[in-house]
Amino acid sequence: MKTAVLVLHGPNLNLLGTREPEVYGNLTLEQVNREIQRYARSRGVRVECRQSNHEGELIDAIQTAARRGFGAIVFNPGAFTHYSIALRDAVSAVSLPVVEAHLSNIHAREEFRRHSVIAAVARGQISGFGLRSYLLALDAALGLLEAPARAARGARRSRV
Ligand code: DQA
Repeated sequence: MKTAVLVLHGPNLNLLGTREPEVYGNLTLEQVNREIQRYARSRGVRVECRQSNHEGELIDAIQTAARRGFGAIVFNPGAFTHYSIALRDAVSAVSLPVVEAHLSNIHAREEFRRHSVIAAVARGQISGFGLRSYLLALDAALGLLEAPARAARGARRSRV
């Protein structure tokens, strides 16, 4: 089982803590990442957290994730969620599973936030639980990584 997950934060998430705390909460990105790392350790998974305000950097991170040894990506694309076809194409181009995560419930906000161009190519979406969205997304990613490993073990057993 591949047990490394890349957690990618998109634009403006570096401002967590001071950015619209009534929507995104009071935790800074550093604190969010610390909690993600703490949870990852308890689940026995290696996690790398990265944030970028730049679409191209996020695309590069998605394209190189498998080569860098990650088995899955937890991705909060920020505002790119709603219009970046380039990021959608990157998610669609790679074979490793991508779980979309949002701090806020994008479906309960402005009309333009209710549509995600990423959702159709992600394995699933978790939205609205603040920091917990990332932890739930990490669990979902681990479930996806464990499922094929379990299936392969079953297949090996049935051959003997
Ligand atoms: C967000 C929701 C997006 O609409 C917004 O542009 C963000 C953060 C979230 O985590 O709730 O930057 O992705």
